[in-house]
Amino acid sequence: MDWGLKNRISSIIKPQNNRALMLAVDHGYFLGPTEKLEDPKKVIAPLLKHCDSLMLTRGVQRASVPATTDTPMVLRVSGGSSIIGEDLSQEDITVSIEDAIRLNASALAMSIFVGSKYEYQTIVNLGKLVSEAAKYGLPVLAVTAVGKELGKDARYLSLACRVAAEQGAHIVKTYYCDNFEKVVQSCPVPIIVAGGKKIPERDALQLTYNAIKGGAVGVDMGRNIWQSEHPVSMIRAVRAIVHNNQNVDQAFKLYKKLVSEESKKKPNQKKSNKPNNPNQKKSNKPNNPNQKKSNKPNKPNKPNNPNQNKPNLNQK
Ligand code: 5RP
Repeated sequence: MDWGLKNRISSIIKPQNNRALMLAVDHGYFLGPTEKLEDPKKVIAPLLKHCDSLMLTRGVQRASVPATTDTPMVLRVSGGSSIIGEDLSQEDITVSIEDAIRLNASALAMSIFVGSKYEYQTIVNLGKLVSEAAKYGLPVLAVTAVGKELGKDARYLSLACRVAAEQGAHIVKTYYCDNFEKVVQSCPVPIIVAGGKKIPERDALQLTYNAIKGGAVGVDMGRNIWQSEHPVSMIRAVRAIVHNNQNVDQAFKLYKKLVSEESKKKPNQKKSNKPNNPNQKKSNKPNNPNQKKSNKPNKPNKPNNPNQNKPNLNQK
């Protein structure tokens, strides 16, 4: 393996422990302004130092990430369909290698839709991308996209991951499932697990733990971090599992500790912003109902979330 390729992979999967914590913020490429990711700049800023790499599109990278960062960028280079379009699997390569290099990408990412109408197109695109990227020492991460029609079980995911690896993907991103070990065993390259739709924090930590135990090198998590009421506390708890070998109880305890530290700071911030607020004293009371509300870790999706009930949204 060439030095450049090795070096880039090792910036994503840390060689010290062969683990990776990726933060995914690329959802807008087909979902538009996903709930709680409406302003990517605001979302990314406090989380950037807590992840090993950031998965995003070139638009968000240019507009929302400071070029001074030393966090590696995993650049999504596929797209072409949206959640309101006819078929999400109809993706093509939308970013040139030259632009990826201008953006100093550490890896390129694209989805394949195994078993879908556009299976052929996306798999061939993966092979071509790997060949093109190899000229510049750029690794490729393949995402095994799933949809309503496509399964999410070990049999399907083993097939999809293996197909991706056979085309030369250096890393495969997939979903956690029952018998996940089988998926890992039959895939000759490292597997990273996506978080999927928002679930309670403890459950997302459990998923992280199970994925690592099952053989994944790490997670590429999005919604379960930035749709949490406490994204920084959440990413730090996920990190404790991925990099510090903490178990779920330990990581959840850390999450709760960080949340309580955070909420101790918040009333003071309000205080200084609103010097004449008559409710100020109230908000410091331990039994303030508003306070409880804001501490809820598992806030469900807003009922008017425009992405809810759309076809294929359970893709992730
Ligand atoms: C979008 C993606 C996302 O990066 C991936 O789904 C991870 O995000 P989440 O944890 O929210 O599922 O690949 O196609």
